[in-house]
Amino acid sequence: MYNFIFQNATKVYFGKGCVKEYLSCLIENANTVLLAYGGGSIRRNGVYDEIIGILKDAGKSIVEFSGIMSNPTYAKVQEGAKLARDNQADLILAVGGGSVMDCCKAVALAARYGGDIWDDFWARPGVIDFEPLPLGVVVTVAGTGSECNGGAVITNEEKKVKTGRDYPKLNPRFALMDPTYTFSVSKKQMASGSFDILSHIMETYFSEPNEDNVSDDIMEALMRSVVRNLRAAMDNPEDYTARSNLMWDSTMAENRLIKMGKKCDFECHNMEHQLGAYTNCNHGCGLAVIHPVYYRHIFKAGLPKFVRFAENVWGIARDGKSDEELALAGIDALADFIREIGLPATLKELGVHKTQLKEIADSCGISQGAYKPITHEEILAIFRECYE
Ligand code: NZQ
Ligand code: ZN
Repeated sequence: MYNFIFQNATKVYFGKGCVKEYLSCLIENANTVLLAYGGGSIRRNGVYDEIIGILKDAGKSIVEFSGIMSNPTYAKVQEGAKLARDNQADLILAVGGGSVMDCCKAVALAARYGGDIWDDFWARPGVIDFEPLPLGVVVTVAGTGSECNGGAVITNEEKKVKTGRDYPKLNPRFALMDPTYTFSVSKKQMASGSFDILSHIMETYFSEPNEDNVSDDIMEALMRSVVRNLRAAMDNPEDYTARSNLMWDSTMAENRLIKMGKKCDFECHNMEHQLGAYTNCNHGCGLAVIHPVYYRHIFKAGLPKFVRFAENVWGIARDGKSDEELALAGIDALADFIREIGLPATLKELGVHKTQLKEIADSCGISQGAYKPITHEEILAIFRECYE
């Protein structure tokens, strides 16, 4: 294991009824709450009414920051920061998925910063030597794990860059996680969010060290849990056990815990983020297209781990297969699962134009933690293979 420091500052309140039970205590010290949400799902499923009722009963002044889009933009961050400043908000309450939570982390920073946060904290890593505006989150969809990290992935439309940084100071103060809030998530988004969870785990699992490592054991259990519970939630969207497991799997995958002692790859994320910057595609869908093809390119460099993946995650028996055959059978099982849950298999389906591939490939970041260092030429070759 590599050396590490572990900290996670977010306090989690998990389970049915947690918002009703705890939200009013958690906002006690705030006078003005910036209530942030996305395109309106919370208005349709009753979550908005429940939260507004609690805020009003507690006598809070409420400023609404709505319409946060999937793949939140830097312009939207600036809009939120202005609202927070103009209204002297003293707490941001982000209600939604990764997009709402990420946007609000950036708003929390921008509201308390005089300079340009893109230049100073996203274009390059910065040092946050001041207190961002306090942030609490209510999670409504499982996937990113943003509730328990300081990561905020923002799209700068002008520069055509989508990128994320994880600043511990941006960890939400509290996260309320009621699995029943996710009952209304569509099957497509459920599959996409669940694939994002799998992706976060795989990007960490397929990296050094390969020696006996507790993080790898935890990750195998988490991957099996995502597969099992996604199937159950697809069968019955109101399966509380399945939705609870998916919600917690999502947090476990991105609360930094499984990354301890690992290098971490995240090249598929580098590629997907730039596909998103150019096409605004859905994050989990983009990842689903890339992963199997990327792994067929790199598996020989991490063969023992790909063999373990086939055996321990997908239950594939060796039956006389060589290591390479077994590893490829595991990657095939992953591709079959992607088809089973209805996610796209080609970039064409995501709306990417063939003419864009080179420019997108050239704009991708290169991971320092992969089994095999990749080049922009290879990324382009992967994109071409993914195309149709
Ligand atoms: O906008 P509304 O109307 O709320 O609808 C959303 C949106 O259309 C809908 N939704 C959310 N909760 C719902 C619901 N629909 C019905 N019922 C509910 N209870 O779901 C759709 C997707 O929401 P979004 O927040 O965009 O999805 P997700 O959670 O997958 O977040 C994606 C963003 O997070 C970034 C991605 O790049 C992308 O920008 N990521 C953030 C990470 C982090 N902070 O750690 C890590 C990830 O790797 C990822 O990059
Ligand atoms: Zn992701």
